[in-house]
Formats: sequence, C-alpha cells, structure tokens
Amino acid sequence: MNELLSKYLKVFRLIHEQRPGLLLYALFFSLTTVAIPYLILLMTTLVLNGLLAGDSFGRLLIKVLLVGSITLTCQIAQKFFETKRDAAYNEFNINLEKATTLKLLTISYFQLQDPEMRAAYQKAKEGTTYSGGFNQFIRSVLEDLLNATIALIIGIAAVVTLLWADGSKILPQPWEFLVNDWGFALVILLCVVTPIFLNLILTKKKNEIEKGLFEFYTNVNRQSGYLFNTIFDYQNGPALRLYRGNQLLYDEMIKQNNRFLKRSLEEDRKSSNLTDGGNALISLLLIPIFLLVAAKGYVGAIEVGSIFLYTGYFTQLVAALNQAFVAFAAGNMLLGFLDFYFDFLALDPQENGSLPVEKRNDNEYEIEFHNVSFKYPGAETYVLKDFNLKLMIGQRTAIVGRNGSGKTTFIKLLCRLYPVTEGRITLNGIEIDKYDLKEYQDILAVVFQDFKLFAFSVAENVAANRHFDSQRVTDALYIAGVKDRVATMPAGIESILYKELDDQGVEISGGEAQKIAIARAWYKDAPFVILDEPTSALDPFSEYEIYRRFDDLVEDKTSIYISHRMSSARFSDRIVVFENGRVVQDADHQTLVQRPGLYQELFNAQAQYYVEDLTDDQLATLFS
Ligand SMILES: Nc1ncnc2c1ncn2[C@@H]1O[C@H](COP(=O)(O)OP(=O)(O)OP(=O)(O)O)[C@@H](O)[C@H]1O
Ligand SMILES: [Mg+2]
Repeated sequence: MNELLSKYLKVFRLIHEQRPGLLLYALFFSLTTVAIPYLILLMTTLVLNGLLAGDSFGRLLIKVLLVGSITLTCQIAQKFFETKRDAAYNEFNINLEKATTLKLLTISYFQLQDPEMRAAYQKAKEGTTYSGGFNQFIRSVLEDLLNATIALIIGIAAVVTLLWADGSKILPQPWEFLVNDWGFALVILLCVVTPIFLNLILTKKKNEIEKGLFEFYTNVNRQSGYLFNTIFDYQNGPALRLYRGNQLLYDEMIKQNNRFLKRSLEEDRKSSNLTDGGNALISLLLIPIFLLVAAKGYVGAIEVGSIFLYTGYFTQLVAALNQAFVAFAAGNMLLGFLDFYFDFLALDPQENGSLPVEKRNDNEYEIEFHNVSFKYPGAETYVLKDFNLKLMIGQRTAIVGRNGSGKTTFIKLLCRLYPVTEGRITLNGIEIDKYDLKEYQDILAVVFQDFKLFAFSVAENVAANRHFDSQRVTDALYIAGVKDRVATMPAGIESILYKELDDQGVEISGGEAQKIAIARAWYKDAPFVILDEPTSALDPFSEYEIYRRFDDLVEDKTSIYISHRMSSARFSDRIVVFENGRVVQDADHQTLVQRPGLYQELFNAQAQYYVEDLTDDQLATLFS
C-alpha cells in the first residue's frame, strides 16, 4: 500500500514539476463539477418541501434564488477552471516532451542502446496513449476519487440523520424493522458494502484482461509499426520490389491485422460481460435503499420532499463508489506506465568527468589503450581482448583487419560511446573518463563507417550548428571534393538535404553524402582525425582526390585511417593489423609487406585482383 501511495505521489510530483498549477486547476474543476448535482438536488428539495409546508411565494423565491445563484457561480467557476486546466495540460504535455527529448539526447549512447530501456520507454509511451495518459490519470484520480469521497461524506451524514429521524406512524409488519435503528443500519450497510466487494472482484478480473490485452497490443503495435515503416520508407522500395518482398510484407501485415481483430473482439466481449453484469447487480441494490427512505417518509420521520433528496444522495453514492473503483483500477494501470517517465527523467546523464581538456596549440595529445577488454551489453564474447595501443602524437596510423575484427568498436571506445569492460584508456596519462565529456569529444573529428547526415542544410550539416562560417564550410566541401556538386544545388551551401523536413530538399547520392561527412570532420578542426572507411562509397576519381588532398584533410594532426583498401596505407606512418580484437602486427608498410603474416595476406589478396601477373616484390614496390 505504501509503495502504491509513493508511486501516486511520484506521478503527482512529476506533473507538478512539469507544469505547476495544473493539479490545482484540475482540483478546483473537480470540486465544482462534483458540487453541481448536489446543489440541484438541494434546490429541488427546498422547493418541494417549501411547497408542501405552504411557504409563501416570496420565501420560495428567495430559496430558489439563493441556491440557484450558488449553482450558477459553481457552473461559471467550473468552466473557468476547465479552460485553465486544459491550457495547463497542453503546456504540461509540451514540457514533458521537451524533458524526455532532452533526456534522450543527453543519456549515454550506451544507455540509449540498452534494449531494456528502449522496451520500457516504448511501453510507457504506448501505454500512455492506450490508456489516456496523464490527462486520464489526473481526471480519474482527482475527479472520480474526489467525487467518491464527497459522496461518501454526504452519504454517511445522510445515514446518520436518517437514523436519528423517528416518525410517529407505525409500519405494518413485517416491515417494521426498516425503520428500527438496527434494521435500518444493517440494510444500508449491506447495500453499500455489497457493491464494494462485487467491484473488488470485478475490477481484479477486468484488470487481468486489460493487462494481457495491453501486452498483446504493444507487441502488435511494435510489429505492425515496423511493417508499415518498412513499406512506407521509399528507400526500401527498390529492394522490396526487386525481390518481390511486397507480398511477404503484405501477407505479414494481413496476418497481424487478423490476429489483432480476433483477440480484441474476444477480450472486449469478456470485459463488457463483466461490466454489464456488475452494473446490473449494483443498480438492483438501489431498490432496498429506496425502500428504506420511503419507509422513513411513510412513518413521518422526514419531510416528503426530503425523500427526493435522500434517494438522490444514495443514488449518487452508489454511482460514485462504482466510478471510484473503475477510476482506481484505471489509475493503477496507468501508474504502471506513467511511473516509468519519472524513472526515465531521473536517469543520470552520461557519467562525466570534471577535468578540463587542456587546450594546446601544438596538438600534443596522446591516447593510449592499456589492456582494454570490451564486450557489448548482453553479449557473451569479448570484441576486444587485452588490447594495447598507443597513438603517437602527430602520427598517421592506418588500421586494417578482417570484417568483425573490432576496428569500429575500437573507435567507439576511443570516443567514449561505450565504457570499457576492463582496462583503461588514457589521454596524456589520465583516464579519459576523468575528463569533461564534451571537451574530450571536442578533440575528436570522426567520420563513422555508418555516418549519418541530417535533414538540415549542407552548411548546418558540415558545421553541426545553426551558426556557421560560410568560408570554412566551402573550404571543407572543397577538401572533401563535393564543393562543385553543392554549388549546383538551388541554394548552394544553404540547400536543405532530403525531403523529411522540407519538400524542396535535395536528394544526394551515397558517395556525395559521404563526402559531406568528410567535410564535417575537417570543419571540426580537432587534434584527432579518425576516418572509418571514409571512401567506401566514393568512385575511384573521388577516392583519388581524397588521397591527394589527404595532407590538407589531416594536416599535422594525429590520425587514424581504417580501410580495406590496402593501397591507402601508403600515406600512413604506421599500420596496425587487427585480428579477433587484438593487435597482431604493428609496423610500417615496407616492413609488414615483406613479412609473412596477415598484412601480407590481405595485401596480396587485394593486389591480385588489380594486377594478376605481378610478383609480390613488384606489388610491394608499386604500392610503396
Ligand atoms: N551494437 C552492437 N551490439 C552487439 N555486438 C556488436 C555491436 N556492434 C558490433 N558488434 C559485434 O562486434 C564485432 C566487431 O564489430 P566491429 O564493427 O568493431 O568490426 P569491424 O572490424 O569494424 O568490421 P568491419 O570491417 O566489417 O567494419 C562484430 O562481430 C559484431 O558482431
Ligand atoms: Mg567497421
């Protein structure tokens, strides 16, 4: 119970933090809403009793005007608070969206990839939509529970007054017990308590159904979301059409839809049978209550008009209790989803060191891996194992190795995108985690193997910023060999890429995109330049151009160049060969090409395709 209460409080705190005032507006709205039916009941009873007691017209008028104006004020206040509440709720939604987006952008890449976190996030998001979200939560908890509390207080007061009220007339047997104190209390108690028990059982059953249904819905949503997005994404169009994948996807979609329809129909039927049965039974219990009130009226314990008032109170009480149960059950289910937001927003941003990275004009930054081992979250095997490597200042290092040997993983560890499992990585002798993350990442300019550009302008992509230096952007595009292509675009460097955010956006080829990614790395002007397969999509001319301008691209910075193009090693001072997550060879090209080993094998294998009849020696001189 305590845990449940603290969960409720957590969600309320979150709502209050994101939009102070919202809960207050909602509370006042609920109070005014709940009060109106009682006021109307009261007014009718006053008029009835007044009429029966032979009140003067003037007296009746005063009564009506008094209660009427209170009711009207309540109604005006209700509308006022409703508008305020709705506006505040919209702001709350926007603020929550802002907060979650910011969190997604600032948690570590490691956490962002964590399948458990992703699943929980998706569940919370879908669950919120599915069950009405915070709006429904505020409504059910505040309005319905408040309604029930008020109804209960008034109900108890009504029972007590009725108990005290005795009449002079006598009821015929066997109905005497109805106005007898004990009989009256017992029947009333039974009538109020039975629906509570009944509801407890019903809601428990309904909750089980709902829970199962929700799990099912989220699964179906995730899968059909994937199917739909795959079909809708035009970039998938060619593969789908040429491999006749359309039928595959369509059939799967239909299968999903049918599964969804069948299950939801079944569950809906089960659920509404339960609700209908329960409601009918609860309504039936109103009969004995009415009988009690009528009996009190018959013996003259209450005025005739008050019969109306009391039956009204009790009808209200039964309905409110009923609603409160539904609300409580819905609230608990909602809690399961909403509570996640609280935990999500409380996630720590990536662990950040406090040391500033010393600004040095001489670029004297030295990074070293000491016995580093790493495995991906949830994976069994190590991708890097007892890995040692020192990157010498100003040195150009080429990294080669088979697919899956750990080259890209090595770069990601270097960039602090993942924490090492064992060992240490140091910058100028100090563990990289101790440095301020942003400052540390500022010293690295990386072209990732799976580089990504965004649907912003070319210049914004290159500068990774809304403010940019046009001249530097143009220089960067020149060095990456894409300046002329950008010049042909309608708005030059300010042309928007892709059509996601702008209908007029420019579509570019894979190679053109890769060149812009290279330009982005140059623009950053960082002491380390890291290029992971940066020319994989480039044509031979473009690749040659990049090689030719390599000096401009890398200048005197420390650089890492990962490539399967063995000839690229010629502009490296040092070649490091990866095999199964370890460094197996480390020397210059001249040395390695003459020494039996993986480098020689890789080199020869590739050279064969180009110049089949050259000897190894000839090949070696050709590429040296
Ligand atoms: N996000 C990930 N989660 C789990 N395992 C991964 C992940 N990324 C890579 N791996 C695994 O780590 C191993 C090394 O991958 P990595 O990308 O570092 O290789 P690589 O040397 O860059 O290969 P390539 O030459 O193909 O680019 C692979 O076998 C892969 O299965
Ligand atoms: Mg790779």
